[in-house]
Amino acid sequence: MANVTFSSPILDKDVTVYAVAGDTKTLLALAKKNDIPIPCQCQDGECGSCLIKVSVLGDNPPLASHLTEKEKLTLSVNGKLNKALLEKIETKDSPPSYRLACQYIVRDEDILVEFSGEAGVE
Ligand code: FES
Repeated sequence: MANVTFSSPILDKDVTVYAVAGDTKTLLALAKKNDIPIPCQCQDGECGSCLIKVSVLGDNPPLASHLTEKEKLTLSVNGKLNKALLEKIETKDSPPSYRLACQYIVRDEDILVEFSGEAGVE
């Protein structure tokens, strides 16, 4: 079980929801299920409208995270992923802060998800 806390200026207050461990739903699907209005258009990792900032909560180190080639490209185009950061991700299994909600698979770790409510702006 993971706690996922959504924070945004467009929400009255932060909202924490529970994600079932082993569930392979995306963060965007979890947000939609709980009426959290993360902007989205393509829902396929191509437009960048669902850009979010993810922080791992607690004392445990972040779990290794896989980025699809599509997500890498879209984050790069949006200025959120550069060569140095990409190398760090690939050599140290260190996940980046900026992600696409439609590509992020919820894991068994507590996270804070920040979004602006404006498409493509975290
Ligand atoms: Fe288009 Fe996520 S909705 S990249």
